Amino acid sequence: MTRIILNGCNGKMGKVISQSIMDNYDDCEVVCGVDINTTKQFDYNVVSSPDEINVEADVIIDFSLPVAFDNIMKYAQRTKTPIVVATTGLSDEQIYVIKSASEIIPVFFTANMSLGVNLISELAQKAAEVLGRKFDVEIVELHHNQKVDSPSGTALMLADSINEVYNNSMKYEFDRHSKRAKRTDNEIGIHSVRGGTIVGEHEVIFAGDDEIIKITHTAASKQIFATGSINAAKYLTSCKPGLYSMKDMISK
Ligand SMILES: NC(=O)c1ccc[n+]([C@@H]2O[C@H](COP(=O)([O-])OP(=O)(O)OC[C@H]3O[C@@H](n4cnc5c(N)ncnc54)[C@H](O)[C@@H]3O)[C@@H](O)[C@H]2O)c1
Repeated sequence: MTRIILNGCNGKMGKVISQSIMDNYDDCEVVCGVDINTTKQFDYNVVSSPDEINVEADVIIDFSLPVAFDNIMKYAQRTKTPIVVATTGLSDEQIYVIKSASEIIPVFFTANMSLGVNLISELAQKAAEVLGRKFDVEIVELHHNQKVDSPSGTALMLADSINEVYNNSMKYEFDRHSKRAKRTDNEIGIHSVRGGTIVGEHEVIFAGDDEIIKITHTAASKQIFATGSINAAKYLTSCKPGLYSMKDMISK
């Protein structure tokens, strides 16, 4: 049985994960939830801070907000509990903490827990290799009107994976509105759309002379992220300290 602490348990993702574990996973159990909203909605206790956790667990899943990250990461390091970090919009300092924590505990970190998005990230890398610098790359992401960070962590993840192919020589252009200038060759444009209940859509556009290639992923429900994070949690319990991503899990 994999015993899980769920940080952000009363958020949209926390609830989908709790329901999914109840319905589909005999081998997993949430043993404690952490959330500033301490309403008990499932069959586990909810505490308002990691300092109040009084049960042992095999792994932590964090789907919360950047403001909730520091405390749960300190708890993970103090108790040597592996942690799956799915929260997006983290600062550079927080990402640095993830990297240093992974020297002492297993940490799984990805901006997108869906298998499909990780696949399009690889397809986009392949496209960048084949098409080369003659094609302009633009990324468009669409999300619901409650999302606070922008661009999405996934859009940045896609940009980073393409930029890797170009030896990290591209800069990211988030705002064409504030300047009056033509597009340059060494940029990746990243654009955000917010509205309604859109779960998440990412499109990578390679625009060349007289042809356009588009690689798109559409999330139809939050279930894909829940499934990915539960599988990551189970995977992490057998890992040595280190920094893991979906690529490691897929190739296993
Ligand atoms: N990596 C992925 O695949 C993926 C997919 C979907 C969402 N996300 C990210 O996961 C995060 C959560 O998404 P959501 O849609 O469930 O958001 P949400 O706003 O519905 O939930 C966040 C939860 O965190 C709680 N919270 C706020 N401050 C806290 C604190 N100090 N301590 C403990 N809990 C606190 C809130 O009360 C809320 O219940 C976001 O950063 C989102 O971008 C990542």
